[in-house]
Amino acid sequence: MATHNLLLLPGDGIGPEVMAEVKRVIDFFSKKGPDKFSTEEALVGGCCYDAHKVAITDATMDKAKAADAIIFGAVGGPKWDKVPYDVRPEAGLLRLRKDLALFANIRPAIVYPALADSSSLKRDVVEGLDIIILRELTGGVYFGEPKTITDLGNGQKRGIDTQVYDTFEIDRIARVAFDLARTRRKKVASAEKRNVMKTGVLWNEVVTRVHQESYKDVALEHVLADNCAMQLVRWPKQYDVLVTDNLFGDVLSDIAAMLTGSLGMLPSASLGAIDSKTKLRKALYEPVHGSAPDIAGKGLANPIAMIASFGMALRYSFGLGEWADKIDQAIASVLAKGLRTKDIAQGTEKTIGTTDMGAAILGELKAAA
Ligand code: IPM
Ligand code: MG
Repeated sequence: MATHNLLLLPGDGIGPEVMAEVKRVIDFFSKKGPDKFSTEEALVGGCCYDAHKVAITDATMDKAKAADAIIFGAVGGPKWDKVPYDVRPEAGLLRLRKDLALFANIRPAIVYPALADSSSLKRDVVEGLDIIILRELTGGVYFGEPKTITDLGNGQKRGIDTQVYDTFEIDRIARVAFDLARTRRKKVASAEKRNVMKTGVLWNEVVTRVHQESYKDVALEHVLADNCAMQLVRWPKQYDVLVTDNLFGDVLSDIAAMLTGSLGMLPSASLGAIDSKTKLRKALYEPVHGSAPDIAGKGLANPIAMIASFGMALRYSFGLGEWADKIDQAIASVLAKGLRTKDIAQGTEKTIGTTDMGAAILGELKAAA
């Protein structure tokens, strides 16, 4: 029986609470098979800053590089608003993404039938929605240099961020988009702002070339990123795979998340390139929701996005797609039974807390196993 090594990084806020639920799911899979999981835990984000004055330590980075997959909770919170920029909690997550070269961020937005009324949009707009936002994750304005604030000496300061993309970065994310689309409805929409940005012009050019060269069987559409934001709330079902850069992907994936009713529902996978020798790829799985400091420690957080993120690990790292499907089905059944955490409850619906939701999903999994 194969054993996979997982590095668990619960982080801050609700991170540890939702991680506690996914740990029970991991234990269950380990006992049940088909594969075993060994886990190790480390600090990241504000809690790591409190202990070590950095957002992630070199020792943890080494563990992350050695792990078969990283399961990540959330980082940040008002407690660390004033810590130096380089060691702010988010720097830990960004270092993981960059140093492990996790360039492809898959963020599926799926509306579970039972939740179609939890969206702020009308039922017919979101019912049956199943799209993927594919966000480029290691380039663009997040990492471009220069990135500075300079004192101009006249009472003014100048802040600079740099949006930069090289051909190879666009080429490889485009290929992930087309490959994903081939396993789905064979449609890719690529969002940029070529009407204003040089990186947008290059993005458009490279995606078009990759499509022409290797993926003519997939339909490709180009859309301006602002228009795309509008289309996502107007009629999101027009999309299948939506590929875009780091910053637009950050924004558009929050919109997509909300279509599903709550940020607490959206899992994600951040993948590196496949190593030609080992055939393995570095990968980090995390819920799209943040650390939610307002509800942290109260047992109210929705563990679904975290558990579904582990499902994505089974699918994308360990070739256990049928077990990932079982997790998705377990989530769908608890929702169909009317179980709701606060974030997805309507009006006077009765709500349950984090551990009860985790236990209910585990119960469904056990029943299905
Ligand atoms: C996300 C988050 C992060 C990002 C933050 C926490 C740095 O918003 O994963 O979407 O901006 O990428
Ligand atoms: Mg974000």
